Amino acid sequence: MSYKLVYYGSDILKNVADDVKNIDQNIIDLIDTMFNIMYKERGIGLAGPQANAGKKIITIDIENFGGQRIALINPEIISKSEETEPYEEGCLSFPGISEDIIRPSKVAVKGITPDGKEISFGADGLYARVLQHEIDHINGVVFIDHLEDHIRREYRKELKKIKKLNKD
Ligand code: NI
Repeated sequence: MSYKLVYYGSDILKNVADDVKNIDQNIIDLIDTMFNIMYKERGIGLAGPQANAGKKIITIDIENFGGQRIALINPEIISKSEETEPYEEGCLSFPGISEDIIRPSKVAVKGITPDGKEISFGADGLYARVLQHEIDHINGVVFIDHLEDHIRREYRKELKKIKKLNKD
């Protein structure tokens, strides 16, 4: 299995990723590769399944927006605010598609850093948004799953085209 960006239509995006049991060199290399794919594609977040790796790992870099650069292993949302807000989301696995998605405004997250430290923290704004989007990915959920059916149906043609990118 080679690490590369996969697009809508790839089964790996629908599967719950595996927990990382042991942070070995392969995991460290995978995190590097994920950052590289993310930067090459000019994304601000990536999840293992999008790199064709069924592992619970996410990478985020929102330093250009005054935020964090972080890789998290086995991340989980431990609480979310009742308050929600819409935000226009896109996804590297869905090039050309963006839609307002309503999500909790704030979340608390726990996970493990690449050097093996268990951490938990709160996030709001763009950081909360990207964390929720990426943690969805490792649970087999993609952003268009949050859209109402009639809106998702409007993208049928685009989605068909995106699916074909997996064969290139
Ligand atoms: Ni995504």
